Amino acid sequence: MLDLETIKADEEVITIMEMTRTSIEALGFTEHSRRHCSIVSKWTGEILRGLGKPPERVQLAEIAGYLHDIGNCVNRQDHAQSGAILAYNILKRMGMDTQSASAVMLAIGNHDEHYGTPVSDISSALIIADKADVHKSRVKKPIENVLSANIHDRVNLAAERSYLTVDRARDSIALNIEIDTAICSVMDYFEIYFSRMQLCRKAAEFLGCKFSLIINDTRLV
Ligand SMILES: [Fe+2]
Ligand SMILES: [Fe+2]
Repeated sequence: MLDLETIKADEEVITIMEMTRTSIEALGFTEHSRRHCSIVSKWTGEILRGLGKPPERVQLAEIAGYLHDIGNCVNRQDHAQSGAILAYNILKRMGMDTQSASAVMLAIGNHDEHYGTPVSDISSALIIADKADVHKSRVKKPIENVLSANIHDRVNLAAERSYLTVDRARDSIALNIEIDTAICSVMDYFEIYFSRMQLCRKAAEFLGCKFSLIINDTRLV
């Protein structure tokens, strides 16, 4: 089985990840490259591990998490679909079997909230892990006045910490976020994240769990 460290060290993967970083920076969006993908990889795997899935499934989930945003090196629009095809070809070239490479492709092609749907355990875990990564370090452009920044940047700038908890005994997955309410109100957060949270809820349901959103120790959903 192809492992994540081998994929991370692959020259084609490194080059495409770097192109993704420059493309996203040129668009002025939040960080979508190595930091984000490493965190999403870890959390996607942790969700399935926490739910008792087999190690091979966890490993594929970590690979899907790491490669999920590489489609941004093609175009931001439809990056889930372009990234899915790119990842499939890279993994096949590196010797992964067709069944496993297809499972990664399916998950990546369904991670985005516009067209994504939880269609497998890996895709469901990836959706939740991706939406859970909200943090101030993701804002890369210089912000002169935090309060007049656009809502996406403010929501990220306000996020001091976010983490997932998986409770297999209670069939629950919770996204915990600590935000600085002087920068962004809980309502601002909700405005941006409402559709993402709905998708997270569906993804958790696919995994047989309930999804909760906890902001500053208050359970919102
Ligand atoms: Fe994405
Ligand atoms: Fe992402």
